[in-house]
Amino acid sequence: MEYFTTTSKPSRRAVDCAIVGIYGRGKLGVAAKDIDSASKGEIRRLIKSGDISSQLGRCAMLTDITGVKAKRVAVVGLGKSGDFGTKQLRKANAAATRAISQTKAKLVLNCLTLEAIAKTNSYYLARHSVEAIGDTLYKFTKMKSGRKKAGSAIRKIGLSIAKRADAANTMLGAEHGVAIVAGASLARDLGNLPANVCTPNYLARTAKKLAAGNGKLTTSVLGEAEMKRLGMGSLLSVTAGTVEPAKLIVMKYKGAGRDKPIVLVGKGVTFDAGGISLKPGPGMDEMKYDMCGAASVIGTMAAVAKLKLPINLNVVVPAVENLPSGTATKPGDIVKSMSGQTIEVLNTDAEGRLILCDALTYSRRFKPAAIVDVATLTGACVVALGAHRSAVMSHNDKLREELVQAGNRAGDLAWPMPLGDEYAQQLKSNFADMANVGGPGGGAVTAACFLGKYTDGLTWAHMDIAGTAWTSGTKKGASGRPVPLLSEMLLARCGALP
Ligand code: BES
Ligand code: MN
Ligand code: ZN
Repeated sequence: MEYFTTTSKPSRRAVDCAIVGIYGRGKLGVAAKDIDSASKGEIRRLIKSGDISSQLGRCAMLTDITGVKAKRVAVVGLGKSGDFGTKQLRKANAAATRAISQTKAKLVLNCLTLEAIAKTNSYYLARHSVEAIGDTLYKFTKMKSGRKKAGSAIRKIGLSIAKRADAANTMLGAEHGVAIVAGASLARDLGNLPANVCTPNYLARTAKKLAAGNGKLTTSVLGEAEMKRLGMGSLLSVTAGTVEPAKLIVMKYKGAGRDKPIVLVGKGVTFDAGGISLKPGPGMDEMKYDMCGAASVIGTMAAVAKLKLPINLNVVVPAVENLPSGTATKPGDIVKSMSGQTIEVLNTDAEGRLILCDALTYSRRFKPAAIVDVATLTGACVVALGAHRSAVMSHNDKLREELVQAGNRAGDLAWPMPLGDEYAQQLKSNFADMANVGGPGGGAVTAACFLGKYTDGLTWAHMDIAGTAWTSGTKKGASGRPVPLLSEMLLARCGALP
């Protein structure tokens, strides 16, 4: 998709479709006013007759309006004017994009970027719009056979601005939005692919492809023999039941000379059957999404590399399959992690922490400025926060707050959850240094506490995305979260935000 900015009046520009908005109580958005006066009151007439609605997310497609150069005008409901914020802006953009995609319109003029939103600016107006459009146009058809339905015809979108002075920040927002959409779409593709395609090796090849031809980005992949040499007994215990080889994927992006890197670690369980502690059958297909942490950090790397950000970023992905078999790890088995600490595996379904602890220990060699792990780690997190917010845990108040605030600005929400010795006590084992499960209470927190035993001295945060990484039900599919949150954090860290 190509984006440009324009100060031309919506009624005067010959495009295939212009997007304008209306609020409740007959209040017209900036561009709707212009279209209304150019057409001698057409918009107001249609509001009166009930043919167009101000309800947020509704969209009416008008054609051949006299006095207006656009072939079509998509009139989208913006809801109550007092409630209008970036979330509403995204919903309105999504509704308009869906409606326009039903037509053959190629050139679109998006006038929603003219609406005023408190505490935001032209950069975020553009970025949120572009992200909402990109998220709406995303389709996963790779696994369908036969003739595929043609996608949207939209090729070029103009973002309306009130004054030339807004052009630079609007284009910057669009550019960042395009990169974040590309990163999130990659994460969604990897999540949506079935586990018989998206194996640890497939993740590794994807990471290698991203680095090919990019002078700033390198990818290396460690096999099981190298992991064994490193002493990653915890990670390897998870892969013991499958024939699919485990991989440790390491991506390094160098955009800022000798600075210490930010390190993102993503859980890459390409299928989680639970191992010998087998999961129940219904819904087990959704455990193909158990690599969404990996997908989100690889997607974030793709966005950072596309934007050539002046930052050093390393991505580490432990990638395994968790299956039961005669060679699988058994409940009660004791394994030795790369850190030297021993773990009693009381439940083979608590495998995410077993691969992450070794990936965290491995990452120490990078002397990270900050390290964030991202994982679909616990069902308990879904119970606690549902699908709306990812959980963030950290001993470092600043880093935790940095992530939550990045999520707020990006419209990719997160919420802090605690860590604490009281919870860590639940991981005591009679036989090893720790157990891998901490009993029924506070499951998302005890999982984080387990990881905390491997991050001494590191500036570390943990994100549990079990509720946010994908949608269940008839709209089943990967969300691409938290690529926007992580990208925003990195954009802020390297001073790339206006
Ligand atoms: N991948 C799951 C967590 C999960 C469950 C994510 C449901 C999304 C939806 C993880 O490996 C797991 O199985 N966790 C167990 C931990 C328990 C055994 C302590 C869980 O949450 O049940
Ligand atoms: Mn599991
Ligand atoms: Zn899992």
